[in-house]
Amino acid sequence: MGKRFGGKCALVAGGAQGIGRGIARRLAGEGADVVVADLDIEQAQSVSDQLAAMGVNAGAIPVDLAEIASVEQMVEQSLEVLGRIDFFINSAGVVHNVPLLEVTEHDWNRVVDINQRGAAFCIKAVARHMVERVPESVKSQGKSETCYGKIVNFSSMSGRRGRPLQVHYAAAKAAVISLTQSAALALAPYCINVNAVSPGPVRTRMWDVNVAEKGRILGRDAEREAEQFIENVPLRRPGTVEDMAAAVAFLCSPDADYITGQTLNVDGGFEMN
Ligand SMILES: NC(=O)c1ccc[n+]([C@@H]2O[C@H](COP(=O)([O-])OP(=O)(O)OC[C@H]3O[C@@H](n4cnc5c(N)ncnc54)[C@H](O)[C@@H]3O)[C@@H](O)[C@H]2O)c1
Repeated sequence: MGKRFGGKCALVAGGAQGIGRGIARRLAGEGADVVVADLDIEQAQSVSDQLAAMGVNAGAIPVDLAEIASVEQMVEQSLEVLGRIDFFINSAGVVHNVPLLEVTEHDWNRVVDINQRGAAFCIKAVARHMVERVPESVKSQGKSETCYGKIVNFSSMSGRRGRPLQVHYAAAKAAVISLTQSAALALAPYCINVNAVSPGPVRTRMWDVNVAEKGRILGRDAEREAEQFIENVPLRRPGTVEDMAAAVAFLCSPDADYITGQTLNVDGGFEMN
């Protein structure tokens, strides 16, 4: 039997490490051609080399999500490598902890430009290409049995509740939930699905940054901070990049053709606690 994503083309922003790298590997493992786009082009190239060794067409492209022109270029260059984009996954992001009374304009702009504004303009640039591929007959009827693209964003449990040390990050990740709904409605007539994943704690570089910053501000040991996170997870373990990649693979698959505008918690039950 052929691989599930054989013949499909995926662009993974933030694919150089962490969750994005796990997603790139999972999609390539299921046969998709994959372009990895990231601020860290050396690391993106290394992931791309690993994907090529798995037998798929792969590429690495530099991008800074804080720059709209760079986001547009990312899509153009990906099309040169892949020919088209069936799946777009945006796993790029930055976290930052700072008390509300100390947050600066610079802090706010950096976190929001990457996590929120960057996410919005990625969707715009990718969707413009996806819409071009939709046949006129589908555009005029506004419905089809075929999906013409799957977009998956990354929110966070910080986007679900208030976070006193992450006012900017939490606001940006809450905006991703709203953006996912609005984009899903805007793109539904073209049969393009837009969903998001909201991870619980996953041990990546972002996790290390997060617990170290929080520990420093609260005067607590970073490892103790990390343990406390896990104690609040009903399933009693951190998430893995493979857990996140499995959810993304599901959302990209035909099994999720009738799902759009949703933000799926993949968090071991953390959100309920
Ligand atoms: N790890 C967690 O516990 C956790 C929890 C909730 C949500 N998330 C979200 O999941 C996503 C992936 O997180 P992760 O843990 O893999 O983080 P990570 O830090 O391991 O990886 C993030 C990637 O984004 C890239 N990136 C950062 N700024 C960029 C920019 N301006 N332009 C392009 N690329 C940029 C980095 O180079 C890196 O490769 C993020 O959106 C994050 O907010 C993570």
